[in-house]
Amino acid sequence: MSGRFIALEGGEGAGKSTQSRLLAEALRAQGIDVITTREPGGTPGAEAIRTLLLANDAPDWGPRAEALLFAAARADHVATLIRPALERGAWVICDRYLDSSRAYQGGGGGLSDADLLDLHRIGSEGLLPDLTLLLTLDAAEAQTRLAARDADGADRIGGRDAAYHDRVADAFLRFAQGEPMRFAVIDAAGSPQQVHNRVMAAVTPVA
Ligand code: TYD
Repeated sequence: MSGRFIALEGGEGAGKSTQSRLLAEALRAQGIDVITTREPGGTPGAEAIRTLLLANDAPDWGPRAEALLFAAARADHVATLIRPALERGAWVICDRYLDSSRAYQGGGGGLSDADLLDLHRIGSEGLLPDLTLLLTLDAAEAQTRLAARDADGADRIGGRDAAYHDRVADAFLRFAQGEPMRFAVIDAAGSPQQVHNRVMAAVTPVA
């Protein structure tokens, strides 16, 4: 594979989608072939699973079924969109990926990290990003941003209690500390342009 695979991770309201768009624009301006995508979703099959997982009237699957559904969505996304793009030399920027499963279904939901990595090996042959940008923001600031963005309220998982989201945030930081070569921790406070500058400083070394 000759492209580059960059994932953006973090809690709700950290600005991942905005940063994904700004990063894609900056890379395209350098003449790079870039696709942006998101999880859960990114392909018709995975978007169908997204609805099962996140619609407000979705069942409460429980952590194991939930983890399997995320892994199934990711398997389709990797096989039909991400790998083919990387193979043709494109850069893939993905809003959430495996580390969201490790943080939400693992840190938040209590599944073991080893089980989640097993599901990823089975579903997606263990494909990892070249670089994972972890956007960090304190919980109060994230709440303010979310209130401005989601007038109709949080989705099935975003709406879980503060203790769940605290465990998610702790898990993300643990993963970043455990794999410092794959992660860059980005302070998501400040204006979109300030955060974008931090993102570009982290991305340049993988170019
Ligand atoms: P989305 O609206 O894309 O969230 P955000 O805008 O916060 O990125 O919804 C994705 C939700 O799904 C979010 O609450 C995180 C959760 N999620 C998991 O629990 N596990 C996963 O593997 C992924 C990819 C997402």
